[in-house]
Amino acid sequence: MHVAIIMDGNGRWARARRRPREWGHRQGAKAIRAIVESAPDVGIDVLTLYAFSADNWKRPDAEVRGLLRLFRRYLRAETPSMVEDGVRLQVIGRRDRLPADLVRAIRTSEEATRHGSRITLRLAVDYSARDAMVRVARVAAESGTVVDEASFAELMGQILNTDDAVPDVDLLIRSGGEQRLSDFLLWECAYAELYFTSRMWPDFRPEDLREAMRVFAARDRRFGMVAEAV
Ligand code: FPP
Repeated sequence: MHVAIIMDGNGRWARARRRPREWGHRQGAKAIRAIVESAPDVGIDVLTLYAFSADNWKRPDAEVRGLLRLFRRYLRAETPSMVEDGVRLQVIGRRDRLPADLVRAIRTSEEATRHGSRITLRLAVDYSARDAMVRVARVAAESGTVVDEASFAELMGQILNTDDAVPDVDLLIRSGGEQRLSDFLLWECAYAELYFTSRMWPDFRPEDLREAMRVFAARDRRFGMVAEAV
């Protein structure tokens, strides 16, 4: 079971409390731990969180720097508990535009958590689904490889810095009230169920995740087939 979450609403949540957006991001970061801890209990094997999109570089400099600092701190602070909880961390996306100390922190956390077998937590940082697909096409063309769906998924996994092929998403959740995909996991979401909630990310709790899973369980997934064939 692969659940992906677009953690939207930090900025509005902070603004509603007359605080800076960076504070909203910090509260958003705090909300992550309880979600990751509760995810295996509701049957989630892979959890992918959208932390920073390739388009987020266009935000004001101070916010971008604040977010990058927050990721580094988060990785340092959370790695011991991830190891303890059996979380395997993978950071997907581009690394060539990230500060060197963040890249080092990513490598350290990935290395420390690589034996985690309870859940795989994938953090998308400097991520763009379109960019990943274009790069797969480029690698395939340059090497003369004819790709099918399986090898495309494998190549994309390599491009996103994981050892595994990218897993299909079963359920995509977006908090914050907007209803769009924002260039997130476009290939992997081919048959994903979509769940939108107006809850702002800093307020998102395990109970909200359980509710999304309940709604998902009641959905009728047919993958293009008729119900009897499924
Ligand atoms: C969207 O809120 C959220 C982000 C752009 C980044 C997500 C980051 C976090 C949840 C915090 C840090 C994450 C980690 C992994 C430590 P927004 O700013 O777009 O909110 P708005 O739509 O209300 O403005």
